[in-house]
Amino acid sequence: MATSYVGAIDQGTTGTRFMVFDHGGQVVANSYERHEQFYPEPGWVEHDPVEIWENTEQVVESALADADLDAEQLAAVGITNQRETTMVWDADSGRPIHNALVWQDRRTTDRVEELQDAGTVEGIREKTGLECDAYFSATKVEWILDNAEPLKLQSGRSRDLRERARDGELLMGTIDSWLVYNLTGNHITDVTNASRTMLYDIHEMEWDDDLLAEFDVPEAMLPEVRPSSDENLYGHTDPDGFLGAEVPVAGALGDQQAALFGQTCFDTGDAKNTYGTGSFYLMNTGEEAVESDHGLLTTVGFQLSGEPVRYALEGSIFITGAAIEWLEDVDLINNAAQTAELASSVDSTDGVYMVPAFTGLGAPHWDGRARGTIVGMTRGTGKEHIVRATLESIAYQTRDIAEAMEADSGIETTSLRVDGGAVKNDFLCQLQADIIQTEIARPVVDETTALGSAYAAGLAVGYWDDIDELRDNWRIDREFVPEMDSEKADAMYGRWDDAVERSLDWARE
Ligand code: G3P
Repeated sequence: MATSYVGAIDQGTTGTRFMVFDHGGQVVANSYERHEQFYPEPGWVEHDPVEIWENTEQVVESALADADLDAEQLAAVGITNQRETTMVWDADSGRPIHNALVWQDRRTTDRVEELQDAGTVEGIREKTGLECDAYFSATKVEWILDNAEPLKLQSGRSRDLRERARDGELLMGTIDSWLVYNLTGNHITDVTNASRTMLYDIHEMEWDDDLLAEFDVPEAMLPEVRPSSDENLYGHTDPDGFLGAEVPVAGALGDQQAALFGQTCFDTGDAKNTYGTGSFYLMNTGEEAVESDHGLLTTVGFQLSGEPVRYALEGSIFITGAAIEWLEDVDLINNAAQTAELASSVDSTDGVYMVPAFTGLGAPHWDGRARGTIVGMTRGTGKEHIVRATLESIAYQTRDIAEAMEADSGIETTSLRVDGGAVKNDFLCQLQADIIQTEIARPVVDETTALGSAYAAGLAVGYWDDIDELRDNWRIDREFVPEMDSEKADAMYGRWDDAVERSLDWARE
C-alpha cells in the first residue's frame, strides 16, 4: 500500500497554507496563497470567505501536485484557522451574506463600551473566560445580523435576517466551520474555536442562552461543537468534489491552540509563544480553568476524543509581526530579514520606544482605543533605532504576558517554546531571551500550527497511537539563553510601561 500521510489546512489572517506531514511529523508538502485584506473604514478589517475557500482548494491541489501525492494517501485532514473571525452564510446557496469580520476589526468598540457601562463584563468573563472586547465573535455576528443586506423577496418585501437565522436559513461560523462546511457539508466547530466566540460557556461546555439573548443570536444558526480531535469525524470530503477522494476530516483547533498542541505542550505549565501577525502566548493549565487577575484570557486549550477538556491561559498580543510589515510598508526596510542587520548595527535604541498599538492593545491592557506611538526621538534618531525599537516592542509585549502568566498561574517560566515566521530571526530570539530572562526554545519544525492540527486529525483516525508518540517527534533547533544581565533588562523594560501609558486611550474623542 502507498505510504500514508496527514494533511493540515492552516487558514491564517494573511493567507492559507496546506501542509502534508509524515509519521515523524516532518513536512512532505507545502503550498501557500495570500488573500486580500479589505479596510472599508479606519479600524475595519474584512476578508472575502469565497476567496478563502477558493485559495484553500488551490493550495491543497498544488501541494499534492508538487509533492506528487494522491489525495487517497491522506489518512485524514485537520484544520486550523485564524480565530474569532466571523461570518454568516446562506444554508441553501452556501454563499456568505457579508464579508467575514476579521478578529482585528474594531467596528464594534462602541457596543463593547455599552456592555462595559452596563456592568455585563463580569458575567461574560465568568462564563467565557474572555475579556469583553470587539476581538471576539459575539459583537461581530450581532453587527452582521444588524447590518447585512436582508433577502429581497419577489413580492418586494424583504425578509429579516434574524427571522431567517431562527428558521435555520442562515448559518454562523468562524473560519474552521466555513472550511468544514465546504469540505464535508456539515456545520461543526471545535471546542477551542467555540471558546473564542464570547457566546460559549467554557465550564458548562455549551452555548450560553443569556449571551445568545444579549447579542440576539438565534441558536439555530450556531454550529455543533465537537472535540478538537474527533474519532466520530467531522465528516468526509466528497469523492466527486475537488479532491476526488473520500478523506476523513477529523480535527480542528484555533491556530494558537494548534500551535500549543504542535509544540507538544501537553502538560500543565508547558507554554509556547507564536510570532505571527500578532503573538499569542499560551500556557496549558490542565483540567483547571485558571481565572486571570492580570488581564489574561482563560480559554480552551484542546480536547481529545473521550477525554476531559484541557484549559489554557492566554496572552493575546494584537500586533508583533504586523509591526515589521509596517516597517516595510513605510519603506524603513525592504524585507523582514533586514531588521536583524539594522537593529544590530546600533547598541541600543538611544531611548526610543515604539508601541505598535495599531488596532488597540490586547492583553494585559485591553484598550481598544490605544494607538501606535513612537516616543523618545531626538534629531539623532535613525531608522535603525526605530527598527530596533520595533523588535524590542515585540520582546517587551511578550514580557508583559510572561509576568502576568507567572502571577496568575504561580508557575515560573523557565523555558518558552517559540514558533511562527519571526522566530527565524536569531536576533529577535536572543533579544526575547534577554528581555524575559528565560530560555527560548526553537523547534526544528516551526510550522507548529499546521502540525498541531495534523496531530489532532491523525490521532482521531489512529494514524498516531497517542500523544507520547507525538512528544518523540518534537526536536529542538536552537536554544537561546539570556546573555543580558537582569538589571539592564529590568531597566529597559521599566521605561516600556511609560511608553505604553502614552499610547493608551489615544483614540477617544
Ligand atoms: O486570535 C487571532 C489569531 O488566531 C490570528 O492568528 O496567525 O492568523 O495571525 P494569525
